[in-house]
Parts: sequence; C-alpha cells; structure tokens
Amino acid sequence: MKTETRIVSAGRHPEDHFGAVNPPVYRASTITRRSLAEWREVRTRLFDDIVYGRFGTPTTKAFEEAVAALEGADRAVAVSSGMAGCTAAILSAVEGGDHFLVPDSAYQPVRKLAENFLKPFGVETTYYDPSIGAGIADLIRPNTSLIWLEAPGSQTMEMQDIPAITAVARERGIRTGIDNTWATPLFFKPLDFGVDLSVNAATKYLVGHSDAMLGVVSMRAELFEKVKITANSMGSCPGSEECYLGLRGVRTLAVRLKQHEANALRVAQWFQNRPEVNRVLYPALPDDPGHALWKRDFAGASGLFSVILEPAKEVQVAAMVDDLEYFGLGASWGGYESLVMPFDPTAYRTATEWRAAGPCLRFHIGLENPDDLIADLEAGFERMRAAG
Ligand SMILES: Cc1ncc(COP(=O)(O)O)c(C=O)c1O
Repeated sequence: MKTETRIVSAGRHPEDHFGAVNPPVYRASTITRRSLAEWREVRTRLFDDIVYGRFGTPTTKAFEEAVAALEGADRAVAVSSGMAGCTAAILSAVEGGDHFLVPDSAYQPVRKLAENFLKPFGVETTYYDPSIGAGIADLIRPNTSLIWLEAPGSQTMEMQDIPAITAVARERGIRTGIDNTWATPLFFKPLDFGVDLSVNAATKYLVGHSDAMLGVVSMRAELFEKVKITANSMGSCPGSEECYLGLRGVRTLAVRLKQHEANALRVAQWFQNRPEVNRVLYPALPDDPGHALWKRDFAGASGLFSVILEPAKEVQVAAMVDDLEYFGLGASWGGYESLVMPFDPTAYRTATEWRAAGPCLRFHIGLENPDDLIADLEAGFERMRAAG
C-alpha cells in the first residue's frame, strides 16, 4: 500500500459505526459493564479495550491506529499535547540516577523538562552539538539511558545524522527518542532509521488547522506498555474531539504537506536573493549544511524555516513584521496559514555557540498563493528599509 492510500485508509472501521466513514466523537469518562465476569475480563486487557475515558475512547484508538500505520510502528499512544508526547517518551526511558543526552537545538521546553523536572529526580542531562553524528559515542556514560533527537532542530534547523547516532545507541543498549514534528511520518519514518520512540506534536501538521492541541508517541510493540503507563500516570489524555480533529487532519496530510513544501521552497529561495537576508536555514535548500543528510534520509520538507537577517535595529524588524498582511505573529505552526516569529537561542544554548549576523525570524509558510506571500514580504522589507 502506498503512503497516500495508507493515510486515507488507516484506522478506518465504518463497520463499527453504522457505515459512517469517520468514527464519531465518543464523549466518555465512564464505561459500564454488564456483569462482574465481563468487568474482570476487560481488566486483563486494560490498554487494548475501552475501559475508562482516560485510557482512551474508540476515537482515540482510531487516531492512534492511523498514526502508528503511518509511522510504520506497532503502536501509538495519543496524549494531550506535543510536549506531553515528549514528556511521556522521555519519562518512559529515564529514571533517577540515569544520564540523558539532548541536542543543543532541541525544542526549548525539553530543556526545561530536563532542568526543572528531571534534575531534581536525579537525572543528569548533557547537551550535545546536533552535528555530532557517531561522535555521540564519546559522551556516553555507563548510566546513559536515552539519547534525544530532533531534526531539523527547533528554530536553528540543524539536521542530525540519525542513523549514525542510533547505531551507536543500539550497540550499547541505549534508547533513542525523536521529535519528528517537522517532517511528520510522511517525510521521515524514525523507526526505519533505528529510533525507538517517535513523537509528533500533532498540534502542528497532523491536526493542520491550528484548532487543537494533541500529541502522539509511536513505538514497537515491546515499548508500548511503558509509554502508555507513563502517559496514564501523567494523566495526559487527549479529548476525543481533539483526536477526531487529528484523524481528520491526517486524511489530507499528503496533499497539504506537498503544497507547504512547494510554497516554502519558493519563498525560501526568494529570501536567499534578498540583500536584507544573511542566511536562510532550511535543509531543503541545496546550499544548506544539512542538505545532504536531509536528501539521504527524508522524503520531503515541510513549510517551516528560519531566516537570519543582516544587522537591523529592532524598530526596523518591527516595521517589517507588524504590518505583514498574511503572516500572523505567532508561535506554533503546521496550520494552513503563514506565520512569523522572532527567536534568539543565544541565551539557552550550552554545548554550541549560536552566532547570527543579525535578527532571526522563523517563518511558517502556509497554503496561501506564494506570489501574495512574496509581495507581502517585499513590502515588509521596504518598510524595514524606510525605518532605518
Ligand atoms: C518541534 C516542536 N515539538 C513539540 C512542540 C510542542 O507541541 P505542543 O505545543 O502541542 O505541546 C512544539 C510546539 O511548538 C514544537 O515546535
């Protein structure tokens, strides 16, 4: 079955829902049983039946089944946000006394989890250069239990040599987990590259319409129970409405992502030719330092990239950004709409030094016509020049 067909078919069981194409939004906390025998029997299959709202409804299960199929995983666990997905994956693989390796380019709240939550429980974290590749071996300690990955990195967009890192991890029996939100399972299948736990902030491209918070962790069968127990202990259960929106988003993921990719490439290449721009950080561009790795391992690029401007004053950046017509100033991404956001990782990076010629902006390129987006940005640069 080809990917586009799997996207449309996975997790669909009309026969269970009076022939309705989509599963209904089951609103349920309590699930009642008809007899004590049935009650006891169901409790032997706690994670595989419908037992209680927090453990998942049929809508949750349909979403999990679809994502697992897309990821090439045996199972998936839906949680209430992308960050809950990172947390559930990480907590399922580390315990007090362990050592945890995190790329310096990781989504910043993962660092906060490590510093504010894991540290007091006795987990020590080392941040590493995302370009380390097989050199990760030098950072491994006898108590290293998990290596975290994210490619490309949040904001700064560095690619990682994922198979080189997972090969080292596997040799030593260390687990690996990845934040796969940028690529989605459509453009990168982490489990095929030796990663144990793949996290998607479904809030972004899977939901795809900026209207729900949702996360999902995918894994081989033997890791499922630990992640499920962890997510359950965290009390992280997504609402059925959110799972429904995630499932609905998945059905159109292939067409949406192809358009995000085409639009983003157009706009990124346009940025590259602008005198106001110092560098565009987007692994799909042939001169990006991560391009070779991206081309080797990924099947496509989504619509998120970053731009380092030439030196400019805050008032000039504001003149550009404040009056953009099609780019909302907002965190998050992955919806149908374009967004812009300033960033500066100098304050939190510890393993590598972040140097940028000028102010940095992250762009999410939506499904608008790229000609309109480029005209909007062109007018923005004009305002920026005038404000200087
Ligand atoms: C790369 C990445 N991972 C995870 C998350 C967290 O997702 P959520 O906001 O659903 O918790 C985000 C959100 O911005 C993100 O950009």
